[in-house]
Amino acid sequence: MRYLILTSVKNEDIEAYIKSTNNLKIPGVELIQSPHILYQSVDEARCITILETEYITKVLMFCQSLKPVESITLTALIESQDALEKIEKFESEKKKTESEYQKAEYPKLDIRSTNKLEILPLVDWRNENTDLQTEVGVSYLIRTDESTILFDLGFNMVDTHPSPLLNNMEKLGVSVDEIHSIFITHQHSDHVGGGKWIKDNTFSLSGEQIPLDVKVYTPVKMTYPGLEPIYSPNPFILGKGMASIGTISTAMFNDDIAKEMGIAVNVAGKGIVLIIGCGHQSLRRILERYKMLFDEPLYGIVGGLHYPVEGGPVGFYGYYPHIHLGTGKLPWDPISVDELMENIDLLRSFNPELVAISPHDSSPFSLNAFQKAFPGVFKEVIVGNTISI
Ligand SMILES: [Fe+2]
Repeated sequence: MRYLILTSVKNEDIEAYIKSTNNLKIPGVELIQSPHILYQSVDEARCITILETEYITKVLMFCQSLKPVESITLTALIESQDALEKIEKFESEKKKTESEYQKAEYPKLDIRSTNKLEILPLVDWRNENTDLQTEVGVSYLIRTDESTILFDLGFNMVDTHPSPLLNNMEKLGVSVDEIHSIFITHQHSDHVGGGKWIKDNTFSLSGEQIPLDVKVYTPVKMTYPGLEPIYSPNPFILGKGMASIGTISTAMFNDDIAKEMGIAVNVAGKGIVLIIGCGHQSLRRILERYKMLFDEPLYGIVGGLHYPVEGGPVGFYGYYPHIHLGTGKLPWDPISVDELMENIDLLRSFNPELVAISPHDSSPFSLNAFQKAFPGVFKEVIVGNTISI
């Protein structure tokens, strides 16, 4: 697949930049056209590069190596046959997942209610206490009247043992023994405890798979030494006042179809709180699924909703990889400000009393927009700060 990258380069750095291109060698990336400074800037782009690779992550590594770059625009060269095939595959998977979603029908769930709901972020992208580690991944501890559920397992990006999740659990006085069950929202590396577990369809709380004696609910078939994880794609009752809303599939341009589920908790006298991992399903479909399953009012939503709009949680030289990844759209068609605002309006129509959006897959711009739209209702998701309902 051929990618076209347009980059801005500071004038004074151009000479050094051209020299440095001699060293630009990324395995798996073939430079079709080396970085080439444009005589006149086009839409602020000063430099053009064409490269060929299968994986968008290689493109991102390549972009990272372009040191003097201030901003990068990525597009695909669609005259390439590979690109056309990849786009066609994506478009057909998109249609397939949309029609599968339209056909899915589930009866209402009578889940009773819980008086207590506490959500303790164990892993996420922001902290206040620097003893607690942060990652662009998710793990929350959910405590209700009767259950303690570990919701996703973080990223452990540099593959350590103990992982940031175990480190933070220890610092926060949370023991593995108090967990009744593990709920995995979807099979992405920032939720199953690291990329290395995905190829074997397994998961982990750390760099090593520690002994576990819990129930595990998974959105795709998974295994774990000594356990039999329960493959649970359909909505089901998790315990008193808690249910899974079931998986919703979303086609991904650079990945397999994401099958993501979330949790709904019915808090007595308040209503349903939705707890979401990455939000690949889209807010619209999450809310539609909630309406299909419950009659209770929506009290709130907590977790990742995937709005890398005008930036992302991480960036380098003005380049934010999340903008192009996991959106359910083509990489060069990022989620726009208008789409973000439409989604915020949609959520506002439910009058929620709690909106706590994870910063692990949304930009500061989007978090700001939510904060402005929900005054007195918006809460930050911060590692170690319990959200009590
Ligand atoms: Fe995520």
